[in-house]
Amino acid sequence: MHDAPLLQVDGIVGGYGAADEILKGIDLALAPRRMAAIVGPNGAGKSTLLKAIAGLLKPKSGRILLDGGVITGLPPRGIAARGIAFVPQEANIFPSLTVRENLEMGGYLEPRGKVAARVDALMARFPILAEKRRRAARTLSGGQRQILAMAMALMVEPRLLLLDEPSAGLSPKAAESLFDGIAAIHAEGTAILMVEQNALEALAIAEEGIVLVDGRVARTGQAAALAADADVRRLFLGG
Ligand SMILES: Nc1ncnc2c1ncn2[C@@H]1O[C@H](COP(=O)(O)OP(=O)(O)OP(=O)(O)O)[C@@H](O)[C@H]1O
Ligand SMILES: [Mg+2]
Repeated sequence: MHDAPLLQVDGIVGGYGAADEILKGIDLALAPRRMAAIVGPNGAGKSTLLKAIAGLLKPKSGRILLDGGVITGLPPRGIAARGIAFVPQEANIFPSLTVRENLEMGGYLEPRGKVAARVDALMARFPILAEKRRRAARTLSGGQRQILAMAMALMVEPRLLLLDEPSAGLSPKAAESLFDGIAAIHAEGTAILMVEQNALEALAIAEEGIVLVDGRVARTGQAAALAADADVRRLFLGG
């Protein structure tokens, strides 16, 4: 049978202010070390779902569990401390700080002694960050910024990494290189839940796929099977 889920989302309903039912009852589960891609049309609620998991949005009803323990209602910092790291789509780096300082900011909740070792490990993992360590983050290319944002999230050695549209705005070549980096992080054992507009590329590196439409899970399954499914392609993947 499957591993007990790392993440379990049970009947999450929530939204913003008066629009409090953007998510209309979301159920999903992710086993440890697995990767799922969440795809679906604009406005489906993909970012809203990641915000709910990260604790940035308090659901109206439903529960979110990590390792079987309820995390719904915990503040974002409490959720981060339990091992969930979130890379939002925008404003995910500090442009005026150097690359090295950005990595240190990613580890601000970590014990002092651990930070330097993690910075070194991540620079070894992503050599471009070592090369640019003294440069202001604003001087990086779009793809390099996304690598930095992800590396900042990895400073805390999360068990679950939430990525919101990491390839948005990147050239096909930069996106491909970023997806290689994400696949490598996953191969090293981090569970990943990734929202992506580049649906086929995302499904190609994920094990599972989740199609979100109008605040509901429309389809789930093996990523490769979803990517090959004629209905899914026609309705959700534009081809
Ligand atoms: N801060 C907010 N306040 C009010 N409504 C919001 C807010 N953020 C998003 N919404 C609304 O919630 C719905 C879902 O938005 P969400 O950003 O989760 O969609 P998405 O699937 O991530 O779309 P996209 O592919 O465009 O990123 C949309 O109708 C959007 O207008
Ligand atoms: Mg979004």
